[in-house]
Amino acid sequence: MSAQIQLPAQIRIGGGAVRELPALLRELGSVRPLLVTDPGMVELGHARLVEGILTDAGLPVSTFSDTEQEPSSASIERGVDAFARDHFDALIALGGGSAIDSAKAIGVLAFHGGRMRDYAVPNDVESSGIPLIAIPTTAGTGSEATRFTVITDSDSQEKMLCRGRAFLPAAAIVDYEFTLTAPARLTADTGIDALTHAIEAYVSRRASPFTDDLALAAMSHLAGNLDRACSTPSDRDAREAMMLGACQAGMAFSNASVCLVHGMSRPVGALFHVPHGLSNAMLLPAVTRFSAAAAPERYARCCVAMGWCGPDTPAPEALAALISGLEALNRRLEVPGPEAFGIVREQWFAHLESMAAQAEASGSPANNPRVPTREEMVALYTEVWGNA
Ligand SMILES: [Fe+2]
Repeated sequence: MSAQIQLPAQIRIGGGAVRELPALLRELGSVRPLLVTDPGMVELGHARLVEGILTDAGLPVSTFSDTEQEPSSASIERGVDAFARDHFDALIALGGGSAIDSAKAIGVLAFHGGRMRDYAVPNDVESSGIPLIAIPTTAGTGSEATRFTVITDSDSQEKMLCRGRAFLPAAAIVDYEFTLTAPARLTADTGIDALTHAIEAYVSRRASPFTDDLALAAMSHLAGNLDRACSTPSDRDAREAMMLGACQAGMAFSNASVCLVHGMSRPVGALFHVPHGLSNAMLLPAVTRFSAAAAPERYARCCVAMGWCGPDTPAPEALAALISGLEALNRRLEVPGPEAFGIVREQWFAHLESMAAQAEASGSPANNPRVPTREEMVALYTEVWGNA
């Protein structure tokens, strides 16, 4: 059986790679790009750095910085309005996953028209028409290399998964120097998100030998450097490895899909505004415990790749080491449970059924080695509350 692999046509990766932006734009035939970013990037000076690179290359500078964390469909429509104000011929996305996800959605909506909900799963979108260069500033979502975006419906507050080649950037610039200023909390949350991508891509029912190698390499880079990147933000080697691992994990899960952790995590983020990586981290140990017996060899190899057990460790011991390792990682990185995060108990339990229904509707749980019933997802949400 063959596997279908879709990747950005170009990836420039390494310290200082952002300087190659004008060359990439030339290759794409763009002379009037719109920079899509967020207020944080403006405040940090990263947007100004990119604008300066464009100016030095004789390119016009236009910036839309009104994107949101956990972007809403209303914010995407504002971006589409900004794109329509001039004859823009490409998009540059600068920021974390939210800015890149926003630019992907703006590109699709600007080209095809309609509303964001029209492009949510199960409707795949294959042609964008507007080239996008993604420049991630966190080692996390891997969105620069994926054919997915996640947009929250402003009417229903549902996190909509949108997928298809139209959401895959034409090119990515992966420059770890942007991450040197990321604080520990952001580094931890985004790093655990990337680690979750790698694990889920590896255990997914849709994994292939191509994605397996990427996922295992990503796990090694991420687990081996996450603590260092959090404790010593200026550690260039750790930052570079994290950025590489996050990009590899993105390439892996874009072609193998994510599974139950992400399926259950999206409703938590949408309803309770928990940052994406943090809601993944809350769920990862419990979901791994739930799933491990359905693919023991696969989960055992994850543990080996992360350096948490030796290659000859019998699978049952490796599974135990994996689960205790994930729990210990959460403790070291001070991941709160739902209650410690500030979620009201009654609210959490009132939404168990609707969260499970939304998780199931996203399709991600169906990729899990053990496909849960809705009742089992309700039980997992209940367990995760109890672990707090
Ligand atoms: Fe994710």
